[in-house]
Amino acid sequence: MNIEIKDVQLSEVEVKIFAELEDCLSDLKDLKVLKEKEKFVGKDGEVFVYNVGEDLKYNILVGLGKREELTTEKIRIAMSKAYNKVKEIKAKEVAVRFIDVENFCKGRTIKAIAEGLALTAYSFDKYKSDKKAETINVYVTDVKEEMKAKVNGKLNEAKAIINGITIARNLVNEPPNVIYPETLANEAKVLGEKYGFEVQVLDKAQIEAEKMDAFLAVAKGSAKEPKFIIMRYFGDEANKEEIVGLVGKGLTFDTGGYSLKPAAGMDEMKSDMAGAAAVIGAMTTIASQKLKRNVVAVVAACENAISGGSYKPGDIINSMAGKTIEILNTDAEGRLTLADAVSYVISKEKATKVVDIATLTGAVLVALGNTTTAVITNNQEFYNALEEASKKSDERMWQLPNTDDYKKLIKSEIADLKNIGGKLAGTITAGLFIGEFAKDVPWMHLDIAGSSWREGNSDYNPKGGTGVGVKTLYYLVMGPCGCKH
Ligand code: BES
Ligand code: MN
Ligand code: ZN
Repeated sequence: MNIEIKDVQLSEVEVKIFAELEDCLSDLKDLKVLKEKEKFVGKDGEVFVYNVGEDLKYNILVGLGKREELTTEKIRIAMSKAYNKVKEIKAKEVAVRFIDVENFCKGRTIKAIAEGLALTAYSFDKYKSDKKAETINVYVTDVKEEMKAKVNGKLNEAKAIINGITIARNLVNEPPNVIYPETLANEAKVLGEKYGFEVQVLDKAQIEAEKMDAFLAVAKGSAKEPKFIIMRYFGDEANKEEIVGLVGKGLTFDTGGYSLKPAAGMDEMKSDMAGAAAVIGAMTTIASQKLKRNVVAVVAACENAISGGSYKPGDIINSMAGKTIEILNTDAEGRLTLADAVSYVISKEKATKVVDIATLTGAVLVALGNTTTAVITNNQEFYNALEEASKKSDERMWQLPNTDDYKKLIKSEIADLKNIGGKLAGTITAGLFIGEFAKDVPWMHLDIAGSSWREGNSDYNPKGGTGVGVKTLYYLVMGPCGCKH
C-alpha cells in the first residue's frame, strides 16, 4: 500500500473513506439523511458503504464515536474496518478525508490513519503461487494548507514505523527452514546496510570465547550453528555514557528440547524469535528517523532442538556472568539465552539501560491474553518511561510485581539458580530469572508470548506475527519529545 497527502476529487477516485464522529457529523451532504434513516450515525465501530454517482463509485463511512472519547486506537481500528471494505470493493485507488478534530493532535491523527490502513493491508503471501501483486494507492485529502508540512513529516515517521513493523512481521512469519540463526543474522546485516546501523555477528567459536555457556547449552542440540547478532547505532556520539541496550529473544524454533512440546501448535514456535524481530524492526525505524540516541541491540540466535547432543533436565550449566544454573526443564530455554545476552550487552557494549523483549512464557497468555504485554523491572522510573512510550504506541503494557518472595522460587539447592520456578507465577519467575543478570543497571523485561501473535485476523493485526514492540521500543528510545500525546 502506498500512502501520500494529495488533494484529489472524488470524481477521480473509485472509493472515498470518511471517518465521522457521532456527536458532530461533518458537512458530507448525505450524512443528515443517513442519520435520519438510522443507517449511519457515527457510532464507534460502525461501517456503512454506499454508491455515489452513476459510474460505480463508493463512499465508505466509518464511525469514531463521541468526540470527547476519541483515541488514536479508535482511528486505527476504524481505518482497518474501512480497508477491509476497500479490499471487498477491489479498489486500486482510495482517498481518505483527513480526520480534523479540534484539540486532537494532527500528528497523532495522520500516524493513526496510516498505521490503521497499512498494517491491515499487510499480508504474508510470498509462498502462494496465485498471489496478487497489486498495490493500493491511498491519498489523504483535505489537510489544511498550513498543516501540510507538519502532517507530511508525521506521515514519514509513520512510514518508518510501519516499515519496522512489516520487517518484524515478515521475520516472524517466515518458516523455520528459511529463518534460522545464520539467515536471521544475514537479514540483520542487509538491514543494517540499508538503514544505517552497524552489524557484527559472532560465530560459535567467538561465542565460546565470550563464555556464553548458558546460550551455548540451549544451542547444543541443533544442527544449525548459533549466532550472536550485535547491532550498533550511535546517533549521539558525544554522549556515549548513555547507551540503551535492547535484547531480543531469538529462538528461531523452539521444540522444547527433551522437555518436548506437544505436537499441536508446535509450528507456531517459529515465532519464538519475535523479540529478535522487534529489536531488528525497531533498529530500522530508529536509524531511518536518525534519532539522536545511542542504541545497541543484541540477539542470541539459536534453535532449541533434540539430538544426542542436546542439553538435558538435570544438567548444571554455567553462564557468562559466572552464575551456575540447574536445568529442570529444557523448554525454559529463552531465559538462558537472554541471561547471557543481557550480561554481554552490559559488560561488553556498556549499555546503561537494558530492555529485553521475549516470547518467554505461555503463562502470560493465561494472565493477560494476547493484547497486553507483561512487564517486569528493577527500576520504577524506567517503567514510567515505558508507560509514556506505550501511550504513544497504543501497545498495551501491564506491570507485574518483582518482590523477593518470587525471587526465592528460582533459587536452586545445588546451583545458584534453577531455570523454572514451579507451577505458580510463571511469567514473573521467568522475568526475574533474567533480572538476576542485569546487575544494578536499570532493566525491563517485556513478555510478548501473547501479544506477538494472532491466531486469526483481528483489527489491524492479520493472522500471524503482529510486530509488537517495534513501536514502543522506538518511542522509548526517542524519549519525551515535547509534544502533547
Ligand atoms: N517459547 C516458549 C513460550 C511461548 C509459549 C511462546 C506460547 C509463545 C506461545 C517458551 O520457551 C516456553 O516454552 N516456556 C515454557 C516455560 C515453562 C517450561 C516454565 C512455558 O511457558 O510453558
Ligand atoms: Mn521453550
Ligand atoms: Zn521458547
